[in-house]
Amino acid sequence: MLALTDATVAFSSPGGPQVRAVDGITLALPAGQFVVVVGTNGSGKSTLLGAIAGTVPLDVGRIELAGRNITRWSEHRRAALIGRVFQDPRAGTAGSLSVLENIAVAARRGLPAGLGWATTRSRRREAGERLGRIAAGLETRLDQPIGSLSGGQRQIVTLLMATWRRPELLLLDEHTAALDPAAADRVVQATAGIIRSESLTALMVTHSLVQAASLGDRLLLMHRGRIALDVEGPAKRRLTAEAIADRFDRLRRADQLDDAAARTLAARYC
Ligand SMILES: Nc1ncnc2c1ncn2[C@@H]1O[C@H](COP(=O)(O)OP(=O)(O)OP(=O)(O)O)[C@@H](O)[C@H]1O
Ligand SMILES: [Mg+2]
Repeated sequence: MLALTDATVAFSSPGGPQVRAVDGITLALPAGQFVVVVGTNGSGKSTLLGAIAGTVPLDVGRIELAGRNITRWSEHRRAALIGRVFQDPRAGTAGSLSVLENIAVAARRGLPAGLGWATTRSRRREAGERLGRIAAGLETRLDQPIGSLSGGQRQIVTLLMATWRRPELLLLDEHTAALDPAAADRVVQATAGIIRSESLTALMVTHSLVQAASLGDRLLLMHRGRIALDVEGPAKRRLTAEAIADRFDRLRRADQLDDAAARTLAARYC
C-alpha cells in the first residue's frame, strides 16, 4: 500500500515564477494495484515518481509505503522497498558486465555481505529460469555483456533486476519510450506479465494512450501537477484511447482559454 497525503513539490526558476510540479496530491494505492499514469509534457509525472523514490524532496506532505512513513528516508534507504526502470535502457545496468553479473548485483542489493546464492550453478539456473519466463530465448545470453543486447532486451533484464526481490512498489517512467514499436510492445507485455504474476503494486508512466487504455487497473491523468482524472474498476476497463485523447484535448483547450484570459487581463491592467 502506497499513500500520499498532500504531496507537494515546488521548483523556482531564477527570476521566473514558482512551478508547483506536484501540487497537493493525495492518493492511495492498495497493494497489488497496477496504475498507469498519463499527462501532458511537464504535468509532473516524473516529479511525482521522483518524490516517491526519494530523488526529489517533498516541500509539503507525507508518503507512506508498506505501513512505514518514508517521507524523510533517503533515496538509498527507499531503494530497499522500491524498484525502478527508466526511459534509458542504459540506466541502472553496467554495460561492460554480463547479463548474469548484472542480475547477481541486483539479487545481492540490500542483503548483508556474503548472503545470496550459495553456488554459481544455482545462480545461473535461477537467473536463466526467471529471464526465460519473461522473455523466451533471452536466457541463452546470460554470459554476454549486457551492452551487446538490444534496447528492448536490456529493458527486460532491467525489469527483472528491478523486481528480483519483489519490491513493495515498482516505478516505471516511460520505460518503453526509447524503443521501436515492436520492442516497446514486447517490453510492455513482459511488464504487465511480471506485475500480474508477482501481484506487484506499480505506477507506470507512459505517453502511449493505447497502453494507457489497455493496461492496468487504474488510470491517472495528470495536468499541472494535479490529478485531473482518476478512473478504476469497470470504468477503467471501458476506457478507450480515444476517450483519453478527448480528455487531453479538453484540458489543452481549457489551458488556451486560461492563457487568453491572462493575456486579456494583462493587456487591460498593464
Ligand atoms: N529540477 C527541476 N528544476 C526546476 N524545474 C523542474 C525540475 N524538474 C522538473 N521541473 C519542472 O516541473 C514541471 C514538471 O516536470 P516533470 O518532468 O515532472 O513533467 P513530466 O510530466 O514528467 O513531463 P514529460 O512528459 O515531458 O516527461 C515542469 O514544469 C518542469 O519544467
Ligand atoms: Mg517525465
